[in-house]
Parts: sequence; C-alpha cells; structure tokens
Amino acid sequence: MRKNLVVAIDGYSSCGKSTLAKALAKKLGFIYIDSGAMYRAVTLYFLRNQIDINNIEAVKQALEKIELNFHSRDYQSHILLNGEEVSEEIRLMYVSEAVSPVSAIKAVRHDMVKQQQRMGKSKNIVMDGRDIGTAVFPDAQVKFFMTADPKVRAERRFKELQSKGDTQTTLEDVFENLAHRDYADTTRAESPLTRAEDAIVLDNTNLTEEEQLKFALDRVEPLLKNL
Ligand code: DC
Repeated sequence: MRKNLVVAIDGYSSCGKSTLAKALAKKLGFIYIDSGAMYRAVTLYFLRNQIDINNIEAVKQALEKIELNFHSRDYQSHILLNGEEVSEEIRLMYVSEAVSPVSAIKAVRHDMVKQQQRMGKSKNIVMDGRDIGTAVFPDAQVKFFMTADPKVRAERRFKELQSKGDTQTTLEDVFENLAHRDYADTTRAESPLTRAEDAIVLDNTNLTEEEQLKFALDRVEPLLKNL
C-alpha cells in the first residue's frame, strides 16, 4: 500500500486534463506533473537534432543525452530540456504534429514511465497523461478518465493557440490534429490510451472549470484522512 496519494488523470488530447490537474494540485497542495510535456520535450529534442525515429539505436543514444526537469511556479508546470525552459515551444503546432509517433516508441515510453514513477514514489502528486492510471501508476488511489465532445475540444485548443498569437493555424487544422492524435493514442501497440477499469469518467463538454474541480475534490478529499 502506498503512503503517498497519487491522482491519475488520463484522457483524450485537449479535453482539459491539465487545467483540472493544476487546479486540483493547487487546492490540495500536491505536486502537478504534466507527463505530456515530457513526450513533447523529447519530440522537440528529436526535431532539433534530426533524430531518425525509425533508427532505434539513434533514438536510444538521443534518450541518453536528454535530461528533463520540472520546476513549478504558481502550479504552472515548467519543463526544462537539458536546462533550457521549453514550456512555450513544446505547445507549438509543429511539435503537436510530430509527437504521436515519438510517444509510440517503446524505448521512449520505457524511459518516460521510469522517470514518472520516480517522481511519484513518495510525494503526493497529480499526474495527467494517457497511461497514468493504466501503466505508470496502476495502484493510484484515484483515477479520472476525461473526455469531451471533439468539436468543443478543438474550439478550446484553437482559442488557446490564438491567444498565444498563432494566426496561421485554422480551426480545421486543430480538429484534424486532435482526431489524428486520438486515433494514434488509442491504437498504438505500446500502452494505448484506454480507460482503467477503476477510473471515474468525467465528460466535461458542458461543465465549467469550477464544476470539474468540485467533481474531483469530492472524490479525492475523503482519502486525505487516510494519509
Ligand atoms: O497531453 P499532451 O497533448 O500534451 O500530450 C502530447 C502527446 O504525448 C499526446 O499526443 C500523446 C502523448 N502522451 C502519451 O503518449 N502518454 C502520456 N502519458 C502523455 C502524453
């Protein structure tokens, strides 16, 4: 039985996992870990260094040269790739377009999962991703599986990109990228996105952020007394 509390949040791309995870971590005083940022940072490194992802030896050698660290400010997660802050860059469309095949590579997943398990070994954490409740922490005490209408998800992500000054990407581009990533995430051989049997489904198509936070807190808070 683990002594620390792990809240696992999995679900499709752009359905508000990180917004809920951050709010929950802030409210509970837990550490927030964005596992997707790790796959994105690895992808950025591969793109910058022109790593051929079909060359498994090149991939393994590159992984050895990558050091990922998080530093937390105001519960916004900042990721450092070999010491460089890349939190903004990893959200750009060219990284989103390249991340699925990278996150499907066995050696990459193995490396990321090992690091994630270390991060959640003894601290209270909220971690979001695709395989947190199934592969990284199958023993997490609380698991949420988030989903939302694909059109609503695309509109949310589109607005986010626009607010960051991206005037090139259209709503259709975003919709297609999400559909493509959903397909890739759910059909890949290594740890595909799937709902853990004991995960609580949270469809937030018509829920405000406050309502989602309350939904989650109602299920996590009763467990705090066992800590
Ligand atoms: O959550 P996100 O959109 O930032 O994640 C980026 C990509 O990384 C996503 O397309 C799937 C992959 N991912 C994964 O395979 N496993 C995780 N635990 C988190 C993300």
